[in-house]
Amino acid sequence: MLASRTIVVGITGGIAAYKAVNVVRAFVLQGHSVHVVATEAALRFVGKPTLEAISRNPVNVDLYEGVAEVRHVAIGQSADLIVIAPATANTIAKLAAGIADDLLGNTVLASTAPIVLAPAMHTEMWNNKATVANVATLRERGMTIVGPGVGQLTGSDVGPGRMEEPDVIVQRALDVLDAQPTVDSDDLAGKRVVISAGGTREPLDPVRFLGNRSSGKQGVALALAAAARGASVVLVAANLDVAVPAHVTVHLAGSALDLEQAMREECVSADIVIMAAAVADYRPTEIREGKIKKEDTGDTLTLTLVKNPDVLAGLVETRRAGHAPAGQQIVGFAAETEPDADKLLALGRGKIARKGCDLLVVNRVGWSEGFATDSNEVMILDARGDIVNEASGSKMSVANRILDVIVRNDSFN
Ligand code: CTP
Repeated sequence: MLASRTIVVGITGGIAAYKAVNVVRAFVLQGHSVHVVATEAALRFVGKPTLEAISRNPVNVDLYEGVAEVRHVAIGQSADLIVIAPATANTIAKLAAGIADDLLGNTVLASTAPIVLAPAMHTEMWNNKATVANVATLRERGMTIVGPGVGQLTGSDVGPGRMEEPDVIVQRALDVLDAQPTVDSDDLAGKRVVISAGGTREPLDPVRFLGNRSSGKQGVALALAAAARGASVVLVAANLDVAVPAHVTVHLAGSALDLEQAMREECVSADIVIMAAAVADYRPTEIREGKIKKEDTGDTLTLTLVKNPDVLAGLVETRRAGHAPAGQQIVGFAAETEPDADKLLALGRGKIARKGCDLLVVNRVGWSEGFATDSNEVMILDARGDIVNEASGSKMSVANRILDVIVRNDSFN
């Protein structure tokens, strides 16, 4: 469970405002400090005393109240998360345009917290091109849109537009909060961290490659989390499926050989090296100049592959010797499909012994596990093969648990 955080619940003027009471209540029951910012229209649907009693805090509505404490920006600045439920078509349009003609608009503009919206409106309004474009704009800016659900609307009509159920909104909002990097600690201040992420692509011809399903999400989460903990971070990025954080230096690498060279260059001055990338073990022996044509190959095609260098083992071999701050701490990942827990552990132990790194993060991958998902489940082994931690949850929270172990690791102190 998350530590207590400050959550602003924005309520706007739709009939679903009555359900927002349950959103507020769920956050309060989970121990969070909840501040409701309601629009005038919202209070036509749900009473201020109800919201004050449930949130256990005064409800903020008026832009011109609390001026001395600069409330129109203070609420947004103090928020760890803003959830707007229901978000009407009008509010969505105002948010997309950056309009701040009420307290909620000011709160959103003054905040750097993640924002979750639960739209609620009639189907025609939801499908209107203006709303579609506004929602796309807000998504692009990183807001999370939950719902709307499909079902009975206020009148007799049925279709998309119903506000998502409060428990779904609360769960998604807490997942968003959980995925934020922890900024409470600067235990990596002054450290240079080099992280590889994504999956390499081994070219066959100018249009084709052999690749893998790694999205790079866990590596990017590690980069964000390390930067939030004060490290200077270089991300060696192989074909990521996720946006790269602006405050992290990126070194692009396409194939395993590119990645090897990038890691060698970047790791010279690294204190911590994390090999989260899925590196192809083999590459085609030959890269064709032109496209491979069916007429030339026939019904079957045999490819000959040659082994790629083991980048991680190479970095271990050439690492700066000694304990930190002089030496380097090197962390590997193990992607395994083994379903049996004991056998998985044995595979992890064999792998860390072979690679010679200080820590190995073992995660199970499969058709529906590990790759491209937002959550992960890992066990972390030390150089002796002992389990030093197990973590599950969002890739950001797993990233922070991995960094906790790195910071604690004896060889680093
Ligand atoms: N790795 C690497 N270079 C390679 C292959 C893997 O540096 N050519 C790194 C990965 O980045 C990861 C670790 O080695 O940190 C383990 O990768 P994994 O794919 O789990 O294992 P492999 O060494 O490839 O062994 P196998 O595929 O046989 O399990």
